Amino acid sequence: MPDFLTVCEQAARAGAAVLIQMRRGFRVREKGPRDLVTEADTASQAAIRSVLLDAFPDHGFLGEETLPDGGAKESGAPGGPAAEYRWVVDPLDGTVNYVHQLPGYAVSVALERAGEPVVGAVLDPIIDECFTARAGGGAFLNGEPIRVGDCTLLDQALVAVSFSSNVPRGSPEIARFVEALHACQSLRRMGSAALNLCYVASGRLDAYFATSLKRWDAAAGVLIVREAGGVVSDLAGGSLDLGRPSLMAAGTPVLHAALMDVLR
Ligand code: IPD
Ligand code: CA
Ligand code: CA
Repeated sequence: MPDFLTVCEQAARAGAAVLIQMRRGFRVREKGPRDLVTEADTASQAAIRSVLLDAFPDHGFLGEETLPDGGAKESGAPGGPAAEYRWVVDPLDGTVNYVHQLPGYAVSVALERAGEPVVGAVLDPIIDECFTARAGGGAFLNGEPIRVGDCTLLDQALVAVSFSSNVPRGSPEIARFVEALHACQSLRRMGSAALNLCYVASGRLDAYFATSLKRWDAAAGVLIVREAGGVVSDLAGGSLDLGRPSLMAAGTPVLHAALMDVLR
């Protein structure tokens, strides 16, 4: 049987090649207010899906996009073998950046077993950075081991945040953003949840939080943070449920607790 992580990375590379090839010519539409999807999102998902299901025809598949040509968003019979292994794919995380030709987008591919990520790859096609992890096997950037940073003080921490695509004025998301802005050394909203998680894993960021995530945004990145020695929970400090949108990741437990206190 092919190695899960090898195929995971191959699939991410197939998606990334599509994104690069299409980056100067694609149509865009709005799925919802300020929530964009391009032809490149769907073409990337089709390429990724075909690599994964060619290698593992019995596995389930969950991708963000609904494809026009019958390549389904979700497949795999509940109760069949696919219920045990399922690929979870964001074919383009950071679509708004992609549309504006701003770097800072990625392909995210994870394999879950019984709902828990077992391998993951996040690939930035612009600078060819591929973050990978295997449960129990550590985290890597282009094959080199990575480790979270050791920051414990909020006023020395570089922190990133994600918002939902259409944040209401005066919402708790905005209130948390303001609190974090005052407590941390500096705060970023860069536009790709998957890359934010990988930047925590590699010590470029000290922490990251969000209340707008979907399973495909976070499945690979969460595994990569944990395998790099980081802490991930939901925003209330409880254990993370990938099916729910709230998440906090930090390099150290002390920083994680401090940020949790500020956001509560
Ligand atoms: C979005 C990005 C963004 C986050 C949104 C996500 P998309 O994913 O990860 O950083 O704030 O919640 O939906 O739509 O570009 O795949
Ligand atoms: Ca996404
Ligand atoms: Ca996406």
